[in-house]
Amino acid sequence: MIQIAVLGYGTVGSGVVEVINTNHSSINKKAGEEINIKYVLDLRDFPGDTIQEKIVHDYNVILNDPEVRIVVEVMGGVEPAYTYTKQALLAGKSVCTSNKELVARHGAELLEIARERNINYLFEASCGGGIPIIRPLNSSLTADEIDEITGILNGTTNYILTCMFQEGAEFDVVLKRAQELGYAERNPEADVEGYDACRKIAILSSLAFGQQVDYEDIYTEGITGITAADILYAKKLGMSIKLLAYSKKEGNCFYAMVAPALLGPNDPLYSVNGVFNAIFVHGNVLGDAMFYGSGAGKLPTASAVVSDVVDEAKHLHRSIMSFWSSQKLELTDISHSRKPFFVRAKGELSRDLPKVQEIFGPVTPVTVEGTQGEFGFVTEVISEAEYQEKAEKLGTVISRIRVRTV
Ligand code: HSE
Repeated sequence: MIQIAVLGYGTVGSGVVEVINTNHSSINKKAGEEINIKYVLDLRDFPGDTIQEKIVHDYNVILNDPEVRIVVEVMGGVEPAYTYTKQALLAGKSVCTSNKELVARHGAELLEIARERNINYLFEASCGGGIPIIRPLNSSLTADEIDEITGILNGTTNYILTCMFQEGAEFDVVLKRAQELGYAERNPEADVEGYDACRKIAILSSLAFGQQVDYEDIYTEGITGITAADILYAKKLGMSIKLLAYSKKEGNCFYAMVAPALLGPNDPLYSVNGVFNAIFVHGNVLGDAMFYGSGAGKLPTASAVVSDVVDEAKHLHRSIMSFWSSQKLELTDISHSRKPFFVRAKGELSRDLPKVQEIFGPVTPVTVEGTQGEFGFVTEVISEAEYQEKAEKLGTVISRIRVRTV
């Protein structure tokens, strides 16, 4: 029997207990041994809950119990999760987690400690919820040099953008309803400002490129500036708007960014809707691959956490995670990164197009009913720096959205 401890009996922690109870016999078969939850650490008590007899309030009970071989950290936040994880690994216990903030900040160090001790630090649930993506990057795609990862990595913002698209509603209206329905947090900042997606792409990029990508270095824009008028233009262009998190290797340059983008119908990410997530990966040998599924929620996330428990139970004395060096990967300034831009500008198309063309060169103009005193256009592929310079020269830009080309 393998004894495990769960740190935190919140949404994901209670999901982990539920998954282990629901699929007990098949999980045990796959792990090769019976998995038993010996302790659940939480500040609270849960009278009447079957878990109450396992509740402990003192982490040292878990740390000092040699029977506990696997610690499931689903507390969230950096502290005390970082201290508890490090202590568990140093004590020879494998750890698995859904904590993207902790993995993004300290993943390289915690992996190194696990590797030195022939145990494991696994974090399948930290990116894409229930979608297998860490394991494929770690084991299935090892023949490849990964040169691009582009993901819809945040369910809340994808849900909001999908509703805006389907209903023509404004961001604030949809956000409020999503909060009332419990799809969005009361404090939605981490999701709508893109910070959550930023941490996830930092983890995926660090794994794919084998070096620490600091999330503070990643240019990040959320979806708060997207309006119903932008959606009208997107529809006219036959495109959708998604919050994309991407990292790309171009020659010796590494770019990473989180920002809304317009996608055409040929793009595999075009029709990823609602709370679903998807991760598009390009490898130099493989070509394209895409991973799609439930990117958030109690049970999908718990499913990924428990898959790590099973893997750790099967590899109690062998480190199976690939190395991710703590040496920092220097990202190239995004001002060099190139793509087309969709631009909304004040004015009249017939009167002002010549000036736009004089500055931006050939563009594809677009107008929509329901907007007044403005028009839109899509530029050719230009760099971020060129866009900035030309937009300043034009002086009438209302907004711009990057366009993803495939
Ligand atoms: N807030 C996150 C999302 C939860 O909406 O995707 C999963 O990490």
